Amino acid sequence: MKVVILVISLCTLFLSIDKVQPLNILGIFPYAGKSHFFVFDKYLQELAHRGHNVTVISYFPRKEPLQNYHDISLAGKMNVLESVFSIYRSYWQIFRTSIFLFSSGTENCRVLLQDENVQNLWKTKAKFDLVVLEQFNSDCSLGLAYKLGAPVVALNSHVFLPWQYSRYGITYNPSYMPFHFFEGGSKPTFYQRVERTLFNAYFITAFKLFVQRVDQNTLAEYFDDIPPLEELAKDIKCLLSYTSLMLSGSNQFPTNVIEVGGYHVSQPKPLAESIRKFIEDSEHGVIYISFGSMLKANTTPKDKIEAIVGALSELPQRVLWKWEGKTLPGNPENIFISSWLPQNDVLAHPKVLAFFSHCGMLSTTEAIYHGVPVVGMPIFGDQPANAGFIEESGLGVQIQIGELTKDNLLDKFKTVLEPGFKSRVKLLSKAWHDRPMSPMDSAIYWTEAAARYSNFTFQNPSVKVPLYQYYGLDVLSFLVASSIIYLFIIFKIFSCLCKSKKSTRIKKKKQ
Ligand SMILES: *[C@@H]1O[C@H](CO)[C@@H](O)[C@H](O)[C@H]1NC(C)=O
Ligand SMILES: *[C@@H]1O[C@H](CO)[C@@H](O)[C@H](O)[C@H]1NC(C)=O
Repeated sequence: MKVVILVISLCTLFLSIDKVQPLNILGIFPYAGKSHFFVFDKYLQELAHRGHNVTVISYFPRKEPLQNYHDISLAGKMNVLESVFSIYRSYWQIFRTSIFLFSSGTENCRVLLQDENVQNLWKTKAKFDLVVLEQFNSDCSLGLAYKLGAPVVALNSHVFLPWQYSRYGITYNPSYMPFHFFEGGSKPTFYQRVERTLFNAYFITAFKLFVQRVDQNTLAEYFDDIPPLEELAKDIKCLLSYTSLMLSGSNQFPTNVIEVGGYHVSQPKPLAESIRKFIEDSEHGVIYISFGSMLKANTTPKDKIEAIVGALSELPQRVLWKWEGKTLPGNPENIFISSWLPQNDVLAHPKVLAFFSHCGMLSTTEAIYHGVPVVGMPIFGDQPANAGFIEESGLGVQIQIGELTKDNLLDKFKTVLEPGFKSRVKLLSKAWHDRPMSPMDSAIYWTEAAARYSNFTFQNPSVKVPLYQYYGLDVLSFLVASSIIYLFIIFKIFSCLCKSKKSTRIKKKKQ
């Protein structure tokens, strides 16, 4: 009997050691971008799967219930962003993007705080062990997390935005660090460095003035004790950045920025019969084309469409094109168009040989996951930076919309369709998959750690160092001043010595 009791108690002991303490987690996702939430959704579901109690504020409530997962839905309170940008690039377009980012950021904040169910959280003094939130175009959620008294883990679904670097103690350097909105990657030209420097200053200043200040005022309508949002941002425990070494290259991140790029890609599902047959009956394989969910393919200038169709008609491959239009110029026989295609399942097919893409983070990630070479044509947001990653990692080549002609595009396709190119991409994909811990395990580990050890700071110490100390201005001034004093004293001593020598010489002469 005693033995049985001993065995039972040992078993329960082991079970309890193995079990992670379930956490009460609040997710705050006040931005209505579908492609962003797509990344976070996988992570939030996984937290629930692993036994944590997850409450999520977002525009995307679950269609089917999931155990441990609770929605606070903002659906219907703002338009969900899909197909809103046209295929076109200019400084004006970047400026418009910034206006869109700033105005939606402040609007998201107002909608979030006006919501009755969100208000109930602070009115009922709901207790959470942790808040996970998106870092994008507003810091409003940080104010809410502060009110609820929970430590914060932040998520990024893109390359750092200009105003994000300093809060993690990183100094942005335009000479070799990729810039969210521009091409040039880690080897920008002189012109690109000028461009980055100016736009970096613009974005940082405008974000502070037109978003942070406004959000701070919006929060002040509800609470009277919210510290400056920039200070709250510096207290974020860690940031889960949706990037990865083999694709985005080595970087300047401190240890509390964890790279978790890649976890959203799921096991491919069988393809619909018509698509499967189209791919498998091709003699020379298939090229897949998609410009994502945010770009309107039918706003592509007509000459550009003709150039694309022209280049494709000179290749022996068949083409699968995610295209909202009903037809293409010339109704080419080798092109299959559909307004929706299961991208991940298509890219997983071994006969899909190249991907013509706008270089969204999700598409880029799926391409490296499946080892499919990319021809990247970036349009807006972080796509130019991602296109830089594609080129520098060897995943593909890029073409700018301004230089898109039939011959240029044909050249690019021929480059990535070469067998040598393909085998290098396969090796790159293998290296990308090869990590000490899967990106999802890593994301979950750091999330749990942030709650478990919330009394410790994970922060990069440089965040709290005053600027004059960061740049060593006080030390430099001290050294310069003491050198001047030292030189002055030496000069004085010498001039005294000389004077006395001179006077002795004069005395000697007189004698
Ligand atoms: C889980 O979250 C829901 C919704 O926020 C809450 O009502 C419930 O009390 C939580 N459960 C636990 C065990 O904390
Ligand atoms: C952690 O910090 C909180 C708040 O500052 C404090 O009340 C608590 O005692 C600390 N816990 C430990 C284990 O130090």
